[in-house]
Amino acid sequence: MEKLVITGGTPLKGEVTISGAKNAAVAILPATLLINGTCTINNLPNISDVKIYCEILEKLGAKITWHSPNEIYIDTRNIETTEAPLDLTSKFRASYYLLGSLLGRKGSATVGMPGGCKLGSRPIDQHIKAFEALGAHVDIGQGKIVAKAKKLKGNSIYMDISSVGATINAILVSVLSDGITVIDNAAKEPHIVDVANFLNTMGANIKGAGTDTIKVTGVKELTGNAVYSVVPDQIEAGTFMVAAVASRGDILLKNCITKHLEAITAKICEVGGTVKDYGDSIRVSCTRRPSRATIKTLPYPGFPTDMQSQMGVILSIAEGTSIINESIWESRFQYTEELNKMGAKITSQGKTAIFEGVKELRGAPVFASDLRAGAALIVAGIIAKGTTEIYNIKYIDRGYENIEEKFCKLGAKIIRTQED
Ligand code: EPU
Repeated sequence: MEKLVITGGTPLKGEVTISGAKNAAVAILPATLLINGTCTINNLPNISDVKIYCEILEKLGAKITWHSPNEIYIDTRNIETTEAPLDLTSKFRASYYLLGSLLGRKGSATVGMPGGCKLGSRPIDQHIKAFEALGAHVDIGQGKIVAKAKKLKGNSIYMDISSVGATINAILVSVLSDGITVIDNAAKEPHIVDVANFLNTMGANIKGAGTDTIKVTGVKELTGNAVYSVVPDQIEAGTFMVAAVASRGDILLKNCITKHLEAITAKICEVGGTVKDYGDSIRVSCTRRPSRATIKTLPYPGFPTDMQSQMGVILSIAEGTSIINESIWESRFQYTEELNKMGAKITSQGKTAIFEGVKELRGAPVFASDLRAGAALIVAGIIAKGTTEIYNIKYIDRGYENIEEKFCKLGAKIIRTQED
């Protein structure tokens, strides 16, 4: 097992290139199962969730050729089984997309109960509701989900909660169905648009992704034979924006879609950061102690829950008292206990945390409780006085490509070493 050792105190300066979005990649990879042909996907982030997904696809019969660590050629003409390996699918959340795509292509799917970061209860009732609306029968038991359908017929689906995963699964299951599916109260996150764009490039007919009503007209086949580039990662970009402000640095972020960063940019400016928007790149700097702020996480285009813990680092050293209200996940304040070990003064109860800003953080041994908590602790380590050791970094590797390399190029002092 590895850990990160960070010697803090350096303002970050320079340029960083943002990778493809993890949450788009882990939906596009299973979406390839709907294609009776081949395709090339580039700008894939080189992260462990992508590697596990490729392993699963190969076990299902897909043939993958790696052109580079960020580009694959994939042939999904012969899918040999619809039973996904339970040990691999239980490792992460996004394995639930195999249900929609295998059901859509083959009429049956068996997938292990999805694992992933522990953020509180993570039901999948809206996914199941979508599958059943199109005529599937779903059974859950013995640690797995089995979905079967003799025929999938387009229908209306109203999402009780605008769930990212359920919206994508509703699209996946309906792409090859008979007739028209209308998904109302759909989630609008950039990766939903990206999955729809990918499928349309491969021959699907999906309209309205990015709005709250998505219309999918079923087609007979996706022939593929096209190249697709994954959208830049809005959360990785946001993480570097936070690091620029927290370290009182100056970072130019290349390869990003600044429109996707609006909610993050607004908060960065509110706490005292300076942001220059160049459309496909963005420069963020800060020369003073950040100001306090109030944040409520919301579905897109609101402030993303996946940026909550990173912004928490800024608020922990801000002048004055700040509040974060987490409205998506039940249990996303575990990182505050770790920041408190570094000298922060944060109290959290339920879905609210109160940050009494301190002047500085001090290095300490800390544990990443989930992916974004881990990223927040890296930023905390970079700005803290002294040495920070971060354990449980497997979480961070799930979703950030070459994270310590990228931070080190900006001046951070981070070493990856074996855990004691
Ligand atoms: N929900 C239900 N029923 C469902 C589905 C969701 O009640 O059937 C609830 C959840 O419990 C939660 C809310 O709806 O309270 C939103 O959940 P959503 O389904 O939108 O989340 P998800 O699809 O499981 C994705 C990202 C998460 C991100 C959330 C919210 C992926 C693989 N994961 O999860 O990303 O926090 O959307 O934006 O796309 C991360 O990247 O660190 C991460 C956790």
